[in-house]
Amino acid sequence: MKNTILVTGGAGYIGSHTTLALLEAGFEVIVLDNLCNSSVDSLNRVQKICNKLPIFIEGDIRDRILLNNIFTTYKISAVLHFAGLKAVGDSVNNPLEYYENNVAGSVNLCSAMAQANVFNLVFSSSATVYGESTQMPINERAPTATPTNPYGRSKLMVEELLKDLSYSDARWSIALLRYFNPVGAHQSGLIGEDPNGTPNNLVPYISQVAIGKLKKLSVYGDDYPTPDGTGIRDYIHVVDLADGHLKALQAISKTGGVNIWNLGTGIGYSVLEMIRAFEMASQKSVPFQIVNRRQGDIAECWADPMKAQQELGWKTERKLNDMMVDTWRWQSLNPYGYKTSSNSVK
Ligand code: NAD
Ligand code: WQD
Repeated sequence: MKNTILVTGGAGYIGSHTTLALLEAGFEVIVLDNLCNSSVDSLNRVQKICNKLPIFIEGDIRDRILLNNIFTTYKISAVLHFAGLKAVGDSVNNPLEYYENNVAGSVNLCSAMAQANVFNLVFSSSATVYGESTQMPINERAPTATPTNPYGRSKLMVEELLKDLSYSDARWSIALLRYFNPVGAHQSGLIGEDPNGTPNNLVPYISQVAIGKLKKLSVYGDDYPTPDGTGIRDYIHVVDLADGHLKALQAISKTGGVNIWNLGTGIGYSVLEMIRAFEMASQKSVPFQIVNRRQGDIAECWADPMKAQQELGWKTERKLNDMMVDTWRWQSLNPYGYKTSSNSVK
């Protein structure tokens, strides 16, 4: 019998790469996505790469009737839960949307899972739950801190509610995957990150400058206590991240309770190092100017990924140059992302 996985948010950036990895590993995949920040084209491209198509259901994780239907129609063994809103700045202006999608949506999903006796769940959490940690690299025993924005708080709230759920019922087996900074794209150049409007994150911004869609990058501060004064992060290739989900899925089918794993490389790079690496990989220049720090940013953040290595047998394979080469391939082959021109709809 086929092992069927429900992937919420599976048309999005990380979800589409993970859907591909699942299909390649022989799983049957059902993607539930309301397409509020993605295009179904990502899944058509997944089919181009692996010759397999997931079942796609356009819908919302907040729709309980739809969820009940999905769980009664398909024999689902586990859920990978990516669906949610993720723009930090937007979350400050629209907190209710974030709590409704990310927190209420997750509550709804878990209730439907429990009703259907599906207790294996992998949740997309974030290193943002560590706040401004003083310990570098950060391991999973580091205390969580209240994040500085509603997006981050919504992730921490879901982590807490999933822990409560697991304490209340031993049948739950849950992975909280704390991603560091996902970047890059599948090496085919067919799927990648396709932000709506002006990107907030560093690498999509750099690649849009390189292709000429944006004039110059603003580097947010060069007065941090880091070697070159710019912020340091742990950038992880999205294909390595997708592999981490498969390993976590395998692990939770054997363990129970809540398992927390950092998914990062263990290496931090500064903003200036990122610009240089991108320029090398793309042979394009990336003009930039130093501006003030961005509110809420921290100086540095990188993972201790040993727990995932020891318990999941997972570690990242792709280096900084791979991240940049693959980002540039995706960007240059798809200057408008999944759209065919600057004014077409995603
Ligand atoms: P994304 O926006 O590309 O993917 C999220 C997907 O969820 C989108 O396809 C969107 O249409 C869908 N979605 C949103 N709300 C929904 C709802 N209510 N019902 C159904 N579908 C819904 O984002 P991503 O970068 O792929 O992130 C995936 C997950 O990983 C998110 O939960 C995000 O918070 C988390 N995460 C992302 C990062 C990052 O930097 N990209 C870092 C840490 C954690
Ligand atoms: C990286 C570095 C910036 C843009 C965010 C969320 C986090 C997680 C990942 C979901 C920082 C600098 C950036 C620019 C810049 N998302 N920068 N100019 O802030 O580490 O994390 O995305 O969970 O929750 O907060 O990522 O890519 O925005 O920034 O100088 O135009 O690049 O200051 O040092 P961040 P980022």
